[in-house]
Amino acid sequence: MADTLTPVLTDNWDQERSWTMSAYEERGGYGALEKALGMTPEAVVAEVKDSGLRGRGGAGFPTGMKWGFIPQDNPKPKYLVVNADESEPGTCKDIPLMMASPHTLIEGVIISSFAIRANHAFIYVRGEVLHVVRRLQRAVQEAYLAGHLGKNIHGTGYDLDLVIHAGAGAYICGEETALLDSLEGRRGQPRLRPPFPAVAGLYASPTVINNVESIASVPSIIEHGSGWFSSMGTEKSKGYGIFSLSGHVNRPGQYEAPLGITLRRLIELAGGMREGHELKFWTPGGSSTPLLTDAHLDVPLDFEGIGEAGSMLGTRALQLFDDSTCVVRAVLRWTEFYKHESCGKCTPCREGTWWLVQVLGRLERGEGTEADLDLLLDQCDNIMGRSFCALADGAVAPISSSIEFFRDEYLAHFRNGGCPFDPAASTAFSHQQSATAGANA
Ligand SMILES: Cc1cc2nc3c(=O)[nH]c(=O)nc-3n(C[C@H](O)[C@H](O)[C@H](O)COP(=O)(O)O)c2cc1C
Ligand code: SF4
Repeated sequence: MADTLTPVLTDNWDQERSWTMSAYEERGGYGALEKALGMTPEAVVAEVKDSGLRGRGGAGFPTGMKWGFIPQDNPKPKYLVVNADESEPGTCKDIPLMMASPHTLIEGVIISSFAIRANHAFIYVRGEVLHVVRRLQRAVQEAYLAGHLGKNIHGTGYDLDLVIHAGAGAYICGEETALLDSLEGRRGQPRLRPPFPAVAGLYASPTVINNVESIASVPSIIEHGSGWFSSMGTEKSKGYGIFSLSGHVNRPGQYEAPLGITLRRLIELAGGMREGHELKFWTPGGSSTPLLTDAHLDVPLDFEGIGEAGSMLGTRALQLFDDSTCVVRAVLRWTEFYKHESCGKCTPCREGTWWLVQVLGRLERGEGTEADLDLLLDQCDNIMGRSFCALADGAVAPISSSIEFFRDEYLAHFRNGGCPFDPAASTAFSHQQSATAGANA
């Protein structure tokens, strides 16, 4: 069982002015690019395939395989688009990576574009993080000045232009096809597939879309080799990843570790839960992944382990909530987010998320009934798998899982006439007491 930290992407984050070209090159930065440019594009794709790298944006699709889908006999231009929209509640790995070490991403972009024979690449970053946009723009300028970008890169005859595109700030624009629409200047809404982006993506041309962390992992794979990367992690989830711990731990932050590490170990590394409190529930990969509880502390944090436990690894955004948290309130807050961010294209999500907020809201205020719980689950059934994209599935995940694990806490709200965690409420209630409340019903 993996249990140690493996700083690779985060290794230079505490270096002075780590975001500058000189600091990055001081530690061997752009050495992998030199190596890649001496290889054939096919060999670079094969190295990434062999490494077993799976997409770090949530779904875990094998990165090398995705690159292999680009039809090289198609005469249209090929594009690489980096998904830096990072808007999922709890997810906070790409933005710190781009702030601390934008050149890791830019080096990855150049190598990946070379591999798929793209001469134009884009980083689509959410516009609200203006400081990150500026940092990326400056780093791109430095890369052009150093000859890593532009025409005839290092005399190899390979040309690449890289554009930083600031989105207007919509969660749905992180969905890869909505992102493409937004990048083309349209309202960001998901596209019907097929055709898949590898065949007809940006400007109807073959396009690879990858997450920031996926692309930033490429230089280290080229530098150290696929065997080095695949020696870390578990059988089907290779390598390392950034685990973002937030919430009620003593030292929240980014912990880079091999896939397969457990939450128990990560909490230890993060100095434990807040004193006097215990873990109550957590998200393994942001708010769109089903909640887990303290019964899942030893589940390996890899795609398979978390899947078997009934959730998804997602973006490894581990949000930890202790026994002082009302699960109904937390879930209501997330649901309000999804209602706000629904793009409106399909009815189950546009109308359904609105109804979820109405029913959850009255349950949280203590104005609901037991029938409302069944109504809520029925609404979840009518949304899950019946909507156009995964935003809606993500909206119901915390609701149905919280009812599965904390039904008694929902019941306690209307028995109490309000939130039992509210200090003003008459009846004290805790996670431990919930079973008793249920048994006495
Ligand atoms: C609503 C929604 C939001 C998403 N937001 C992001 C995001 O901010 N960043 C990201 O990389 N992937 C996001 N994704 C997943 C992308 O659609 C896509 O799977 C990913 O960018 C592929 O990159 P990867 O193969 O490197 O993981 C989102 C998906 C959905 C449905
Ligand atoms: S599921 Fe929601 S976000 Fe996705 S297309 Fe439908 S309305 Fe838009």
